[in-house]
Amino acid sequence: MKSKQFKSDFLVIGSGIAGLTFAIKASRYGTVNIATKKQDFDSNTNYAQGGIASVLAPDDSFDRHIEDTLKAGAGLGNRTAVEILVREGPGRIRELMEWGAQFSEREGSGGTVLDLGREGGHSMNRIVHARDLTGKEVERALLKKVSEIKNIRLFENHTAVDLLTEHQLGPKAKRRGTIHCYGAYILDNTSGVVNTFNAKMILLATGGVGQVYLHTTNPEIATGDGIAMAYRAGALIGDMEFIQFHPTALYTPKGTGPSFLISEAVRGEGALLLNTRGERFMERVHPLKDLAPRDIVARVIDMELKKYGVPNVYLDITSKSKKFLMRRFPNIYARCLQEGIDISKDPIPVVPAAHYLCGGVISDTNGKTSIENLYVSGESSCTGVHGANRLASNSLLEGIVFSHRAFLQAEEHLRSLNRKPAIQRFPNWNKEGTFDLEEWVLVQHDIEDVKRLMWDYVGIVRSDKRLQKAHKRILMLAEDIHDYYKKSTISSRIVELRNLATVAKLIIRSAMARRDSIGLHYNSDHPRTGARKMNVVLQAAHEPKLVRLGRD
Ligand code: FAD
Ligand code: SIN
Repeated sequence: MKSKQFKSDFLVIGSGIAGLTFAIKASRYGTVNIATKKQDFDSNTNYAQGGIASVLAPDDSFDRHIEDTLKAGAGLGNRTAVEILVREGPGRIRELMEWGAQFSEREGSGGTVLDLGREGGHSMNRIVHARDLTGKEVERALLKKVSEIKNIRLFENHTAVDLLTEHQLGPKAKRRGTIHCYGAYILDNTSGVVNTFNAKMILLATGGVGQVYLHTTNPEIATGDGIAMAYRAGALIGDMEFIQFHPTALYTPKGTGPSFLISEAVRGEGALLLNTRGERFMERVHPLKDLAPRDIVARVIDMELKKYGVPNVYLDITSKSKKFLMRRFPNIYARCLQEGIDISKDPIPVVPAAHYLCGGVISDTNGKTSIENLYVSGESSCTGVHGANRLASNSLLEGIVFSHRAFLQAEEHLRSLNRKPAIQRFPNWNKEGTFDLEEWVLVQHDIEDVKRLMWDYVGIVRSDKRLQKAHKRILMLAEDIHDYYKKSTISSRIVELRNLATVAKLIIRSAMARRDSIGLHYNSDHPRTGARKMNVVLQAAHEPKLVRLGRD
């Protein structure tokens, strides 16, 4: 089958909250193509449990949410971006509700009000949720809205392989200063053909990198594709060392596939963390005890596991009735029961798992990256709102707020492009010299090697020696993987493996460049935070730079 060329005003890569929100809005100004690598709903968004943080209670305030966010981020957050996130949040949540998202409610004194939950690091109840299935509800509402818009075409089972920038046009074009993006090469997973998608404005919304770790709450799509593509094209990437480990993934002795999350909202409803001796270990560590920010809780659990040589700790919500738990957490209740755990009677065995990436492709507060025409939103972006550690339920919020802000640029962006020369023509994808790989088992081994390496050497607690070892190993693995990529017939899996190796390298290099400990990055050889709080910024073919992003 021959390669095809697709054209639209906007190209959105990813169909989670960030991509769909932008697509719905941008369709007012032009045609939108959305490419997504599996089914439309396959995304981290669809798995979100706890909810969306926002100031909606009369006794809450923007200042409190801003301070909670900056504090959780260990002072590395960008205040301007955080203020935007918090102040624009309520408007975006109301919009989601207008589009049909239904959130849990309760009876208040003046009638029905949103039932606002509590999570770690929040000084108030401010989590809007749909029981413990918030992401599913948001994704449902957004996909329904998308299906009603004629200007949008959604391509399922389409994996973006690389961005169309000057780097695809040879070394001469590469040297000409500013980099521009004109679209992407996208693999049709069904036919195996790589097509060219041209657009005037491209939004990367490919989500996180959880799959780079052996144990993760993230589904299979989370392989860091957008970040790896942007890095290869020359974009600035930041804060990659800040991997958030969720403290409470369900521990199952023979766990395979993504770890099931036990939402922080369970602690928000009063669950207690206990060690295997039945002791409340968070009491002595932090004033917020079991509801301390995630970096702290995950690290303390890690210490408990090492101290007693046990595989898990426990989360105890048996203080609540079965009726309450089945209504508030139907998903968690049912899943635990499948494992033989009745959470109204038994403490839940839990263990930390890789959950969220705070860094990504650096953008300004309008989603603009360092590459012309290329925007980014959601988990693959680095807006600076999370600093060194994300506050719970600020991620879905980031997706809707910054996709809206990128959309506000869309009309002017199209207008300005219409005044400039037409978009570049890129050659069709070249598949010469590739062949069907016979030894898939080797690829599978490489995937497992990367995941285990990251888990063992670049996990919750790091050290210089472990990072150096990890760096050495990843360079060898990446070379091996690059070889497969060049020689084998292209497939979604090989694209993902290549990207996993790239993001693993970016995480390791960022962690090595940082010579202190802050937020989610803890290096036992440098346990203190440096006097000047700095961010690590990476760009292809350059050494990592330590700068302070978005200083205000
Ligand atoms: P995603 O929702 O992950 O969407 C990424 C999209 O990009 C997917 O459609 C994917 O298929 C597509 N894609 C990826 N690569 C390619 C490619 N190469 N080509 C084409 N398409 C591609 N956050 C909160 O704020 N509150 C919560 O309660 C919460 N709970 C969570 C629970 C779990 C179990 C998990 C895993 C995360 C949770 N998070 C929560 C985090 C939050 O869900 C994510 O950060 C957020 O949904 C990211 O949205 P996104 O649109 O950026 O990416
Ligand atoms: C959770 O429900 O604990 C996840 C919330 C989040 O990741 O923000």
